[in-house]
Amino acid sequence: YLLLLLLAFLACASIHVLIIFILGTKKSKSSKDPPGPNPFPIIGNILELGNQPHQSLAKLSQNYGPIMSLNLGSIKTIVISSPKLAKEILHKHDLILSNRTIPDTIRALDHHIFSMVWMPPTNQWRILRRACANKVFSPQLLDSTQILRQKKVQELLDFVNEKSEKGETLDIGEATFITVLNSISNTFFSMDLGHYNSSNKPQEFKDIFFGIMKEAGRPNVVDFFPMLRKLDPQGARARMNKYFGKLIDFFDGLVEERLGRERKLSNDVLDSLLEVMMEDNSQVTRPHLLHLFLDLFVAGTDTTSSTIEWAMSELLCNPEKLEKVRKELQQVIGKDEQQQFEESHITKLPYLRAVVKETFRLHPPIPLLVPHKSEDNVEICGFMVPKDAQILVNVWAMGRDSSIWRNPNEFSPERFLENDVDFKGQDFELIPFGAGRRICPGLPLASRTIHIVLASLLYNYDWKLANGKKKEDIDMTETYGITLHKAQPLQVIPIHA
Ligand code: HEM
Repeated sequence: YLLLLLLAFLACASIHVLIIFILGTKKSKSSKDPPGPNPFPIIGNILELGNQPHQSLAKLSQNYGPIMSLNLGSIKTIVISSPKLAKEILHKHDLILSNRTIPDTIRALDHHIFSMVWMPPTNQWRILRRACANKVFSPQLLDSTQILRQKKVQELLDFVNEKSEKGETLDIGEATFITVLNSISNTFFSMDLGHYNSSNKPQEFKDIFFGIMKEAGRPNVVDFFPMLRKLDPQGARARMNKYFGKLIDFFDGLVEERLGRERKLSNDVLDSLLEVMMEDNSQVTRPHLLHLFLDLFVAGTDTTSSTIEWAMSELLCNPEKLEKVRKELQQVIGKDEQQQFEESHITKLPYLRAVVKETFRLHPPIPLLVPHKSEDNVEICGFMVPKDAQILVNVWAMGRDSSIWRNPNEFSPERFLENDVDFKGQDFELIPFGAGRRICPGLPLASRTIHIVLASLLYNYDWKLANGKKKEDIDMTETYGITLHKAQPLQVIPIHA
């Protein structure tokens, strides 16, 4: 479909093709331009991206090196594929390179104006980041809401138990999506937004989030040719308007109801952020708050649950590693059935932590990070990153680079027992959450959730592949989208341990 649109666009712009071709091919590249494949007139290098842009770009970087320049339609794009250059971009020059290119769907309901994810790193952005650090993700707040998340994990285990007793198949990604959604919605609003499929309740929120991810993840011709913005030829922004509208209306209703209460009752994130909003001269307005919730749910749910699904898939492909995690869990938690896994146990589980790091290395949920944009010309290791260029950091390529990792395609958590490498933004060979000023603020919550859910599933159940499949049959193919998913969902049968 995208190709058809591109061809139609090409035909209409044939005169421009000619002019740009003549001008473009005559203009020699400045010596400081990063290397890259030759662009076609008008469409540039779009066709080189293919269905799996992170993989295609990784292949290209083997020819052109760790800093490449591509033209994606009219968007100049710089692709980074080494820890050294990632550090230059995200650490040394992050003041100039922390703006964003805005996908057209994100303009729905002016989301890009109010959204912390998409606004430039202005004072307003800093205020929102500070509110998040103090009122949403501080260690004290996460400690105090731990009990809520533990309850949600228990509900997941109850659902798994139901499946186990009936001998039914469980879709790990689908089930853990609900757990993560409810963990976040209880931490924020003290309420559930999702239901496991056995409850036969409507899945309104899940459907909205999946709709948003589908629209945001699908290639959109407007993102390559912003001059088509007014036309919205694929109708993507119109559909996004509807999804965003439903969520914003829902969040607004919650805010209205809370403001009408005489006393603070819930002590959750919504109460804390409303306090910030009500301060004198507060720069956190009601639209900021509503769009922040939209950001946090969209950024936090699918990323977290797909990591759990990849980790389970890798462990089922590698049963001896799975056995090693279970042994560690039994040693630390004991075999007492009443004993519940707690977030404080994570520090005592080095092998489980290594499994999570290894999963992030091979399956970073956002393989090219969220695109950055340069505010000015910057020289990086002798190459020029021009003003307004889009910058993609290919963390997927870095995770599979044989000059950094021994046997890079092998799932070997042991490699992380030998060093202190962590994913918190200091070690540039492993940055699934980014690094520098735009590093993911949800990292502490995501990390706690992934460890606790994974540990609880592995500690309480043995796992058998559905449909008589063997470990060799597990399909590890990826589908590119807003998060990197398994193309074939992991279907398993839980057996009570
Ligand atoms: C930004 C990864 C979970 C909220 C990001 C970025 C990445 C990322 C790569 C962009 C960094 C950059 O621009 O350089 C992940 C991964 C997660 C995860 C791998 C889980 C496995 C979460 C959670 C939340 C969250 C649970 C909140 C509930 C955000 C927000 C931003 C962000 C608000 C935008 C920050 C900004 O632009 O200033 N995340 N994330 N993320 N993430 Fe996450």
